[in-house]
Amino acid sequence: MGLKQIDHGSKEYKQAVLLRYAILRQPLGLNFTDEELAKEKDNIHIAAFEDDDLLGYCMLTKVNPHTLQLRQMAVKNNLQRKGIGASIMTFAENISRDKGYHAIMMHARDTAIGFYEKFGYKVKGEPFIEINLPHHLMEKRL
Ligand SMILES: CC(C)(COP(=O)(O)OP(=O)(O)OC[C@H]1O[C@@H](n2cnc3c(N)ncnc32)[C@H](O)[C@@H]1OP(=O)(O)O)[C@@H](O)C(=O)NCCC(=O)NCCS
Repeated sequence: MGLKQIDHGSKEYKQAVLLRYAILRQPLGLNFTDEELAKEKDNIHIAAFEDDDLLGYCMLTKVNPHTLQLRQMAVKNNLQRKGIGASIMTFAENISRDKGYHAIMMHARDTAIGFYEKFGYKVKGEPFIEINLPHHLMEKRL
């Protein structure tokens, strides 16, 4: 398996949107709008590949000069719990440090809090609802 940054609008990005839809949106009866995807133009897109097969993905959005928000973390259904998410997290943190950021935060689905805790992220504040699911803000200084 290899990890790389992919370009917005590329063939790989289109594969990633399909994965994100299958894992994160379709189960909730939701989809992405063109406007939503267009806003991702300046984000950092990270994907794990086995040959041409995209196995996992996340993106990083600038919140302020010090902090990035990690979003849309997803690993193919039949490949979860095999270390792919962990590799993506490490890669995302390294890129963030290389670019001079000092912190990563995310809106974690409550079902994924345990995953982010493995990497030292801490819950901050009260729960909130996003895309109809309970979430918590989590954060870590890099
Ligand atoms: C959450 C997700 C990205 C994790 O990726 P993954 O490849 O399955 O995770 P890994 O196998 O790399 O797991 C790394 C560690 O986190 C643990 N872990 C993974 N998912 C977890 C979860 N949902 N809750 C608690 N712990 C979890 C693993 O057991 C492993 O622990 P270990 O190091 O002690 O063995 C993936 O399961 C997924 O796509 N889930 C559905 C979509 C989702 O919830 N995305 C997050 C939205 S905020």
